[in-house]
Amino acid sequence: MTKNTSTRIESVLIETRVFAPDATASAGARIASMAAYDALCKEAADDFDGFWARQAKANVTWTKPFTRTLDESNAPFYKWFDDGELNASANCLDKHIGTPVENKTAIIFEADDGAVTKVTYKELLARVSQFANALKAEGIRKGDRVIIYMPMTIEGVIAMQACARIGATHSVVFGGFSAKALQERIIDAGAVAVITANYQLRGGKELPLKAIVDDGIALGGCESIKSVLVYQRTATACAMVAGRDKTFAEVLQGQPSECPPVPVGAEHPLFILYTSGSTGKPKGVQHATGGYLLWAKLTMDWTFDVRPEDVFWCTADIGWITGHTYVAYGPLAAGATQVVFEGIPTFPHAGRFWQMIEKHKVTIFYTAPTAIRSLIKAADSDEKVHPKNWNLSTLRILGAVGEPINPEAWMWYHRNIGAEKCPIVDTFWQTETGGHVITPLPGATPLVPGSCTLPLPGIMAAIVDETGKDIPNGAGGMLVIKRPWPSMIRTIWNDPERFKKSYFPEEMGGTIYLAGDGAVRSADRGYFRITGRIDDVLNVSGHRLGTMEIESALVAKTDLVAEAAVVGRPDDVTGEAVCAFVVLKRGRPASDEEARKIATELRNWVAKEIGPIAKPKDIRFGENLPKTRSGKIMRRLLRSLAKGEAITQDTSTLENPAILEQLGRAH
Ligand code: PRX
Repeated sequence: MTKNTSTRIESVLIETRVFAPDATASAGARIASMAAYDALCKEAADDFDGFWARQAKANVTWTKPFTRTLDESNAPFYKWFDDGELNASANCLDKHIGTPVENKTAIIFEADDGAVTKVTYKELLARVSQFANALKAEGIRKGDRVIIYMPMTIEGVIAMQACARIGATHSVVFGGFSAKALQERIIDAGAVAVITANYQLRGGKELPLKAIVDDGIALGGCESIKSVLVYQRTATACAMVAGRDKTFAEVLQGQPSECPPVPVGAEHPLFILYTSGSTGKPKGVQHATGGYLLWAKLTMDWTFDVRPEDVFWCTADIGWITGHTYVAYGPLAAGATQVVFEGIPTFPHAGRFWQMIEKHKVTIFYTAPTAIRSLIKAADSDEKVHPKNWNLSTLRILGAVGEPINPEAWMWYHRNIGAEKCPIVDTFWQTETGGHVITPLPGATPLVPGSCTLPLPGIMAAIVDETGKDIPNGAGGMLVIKRPWPSMIRTIWNDPERFKKSYFPEEMGGTIYLAGDGAVRSADRGYFRITGRIDDVLNVSGHRLGTMEIESALVAKTDLVAEAAVVGRPDDVTGEAVCAFVVLKRGRPASDEEARKIATELRNWVAKEIGPIAKPKDIRFGENLPKTRSGKIMRRLLRSLAKGEAITQDTSTLENPAILEQLGRAH
């Protein structure tokens, strides 16, 4: 499980700056003071079930009310509100009909080329319903799994909502994943259909999606797929397989724009989202409908304190959990107006985000530290893309997600984007948690740069040692959540044993959720600071990558690679970078030029096997890897080598010390 805890937890960072929310942030906020926050925490501690039952009644529209709040009889397979029924899409769309929200803009879509399209809630409901009817006409039913491999578009959100409307379980695959990654997910999920687009537009480039679906299916084992539905994003034609493939225009033809939402049990799987773990095979994180939806809505209210006049913008792709909870579900459940952006932050210039904030009068902006760091770099080197060139005065709350935000980047965000007035909510959470779990509240929490501060009410987060014993403030340990919460992962699709083993260690009693991150609480305030993963998962640009997944991809290049080990190293912009140590079958490259050529070949190979995000930044070649006499790879040494650190660790158990020198060199 967590053998390398002690080596991965950094020493306690001393950050003394504190930024208390000013009166404008607190005024009218749902949780407007620490006293109000404490009162909610106390309510949850004193009457756990009652607290959650009240929240679920107040925030979710149930077609059949639940009578049971939490069922722990088969822990850690917890069930929430399980005799209740609801529909997630009805909770995002239908519930606004007949209210002032119905004619409000639901989505402001800005395309890669800057073109803007808007849809109201009423229009979105009609389009989701029509597409849901098209899915039904394809024979897709409640409980079927549907893969969505779509660009960031209104149609992507519609595809997800339409699945939810008919009770089909969606599994969105990020558009940057490869044909092989797609095939593995299709097979594991046993999907009956793929919803995709002919191409996606990113940074002025037209990139194929449908062709990758075809390649994925052609890899074999995807017989469960009966239809492939293709959104024509661009005018360019793509190959279509007769009988299996249809365009959106074809399937929507003649479909009515009303479709009754199918009520499902609260525990019905709303979606499966694959994410990296410590083994080679991605985990299908399964989320339930009721608890997930409750938390998507409630965290919009608590963390973002979203108000009717807000324009919310979460820059995450729908292929990631952030795009699920804070694009496809949360903002709609909260009746907010949101921006959906197809493109990338650096096209046509690195001021695009700031320009869009001005253009759409964005009030709440939520992005990843990596994006902030890369835009800092861009602004430093080119005045023209500095945020000062745009009017950002509409902003009132900023957010960060996906990786630790370093205090320098926090301060830049605070000064240059937030004009020193906007609270920054540094939200800690995971694919598995469904929504925020540790985060500041904009109207209440005094902020400390680099700290995600305190758990939300009802989230019993703690820091413990290997046996589950609490660790005092000021010392590092493992982040856990001691009680279940409604939006937690329910199981790993097809692999309940792996679910138990990965998240509920026996040594801690088998019912406590282990997040997989190291953390430390500050001695003075008890604030949490995440120190990074304690397993073999890397976080590159806020994207989760398994080291074993990349190793498996490298050794699958059987003509070249004999052995490979992958570790992370710190990177100024991407947080962590992938560093691969490779033993070639033919021995070490004879020249730098040959090393570069092979490294390029291996990078392209990894992009093909997993996706471009997994490409190693550094590749080093050696005759062997550092191993103990029993043959175990000494990863801690590789981590030091990757960082360019002098080796101070004990190398006495090392079988072959000479190769450290080889692997320490760039090539
Ligand atoms: O290591 C933590 C980091 O991202 C991991 C979860 O990745 P994923 O499931 O892809 O979800 C990302 C978006 C929620 C965590 O285990 N992480 C996420 N948010 C933060 C963070 N690390 C530090 N601070 C955060 N705010």
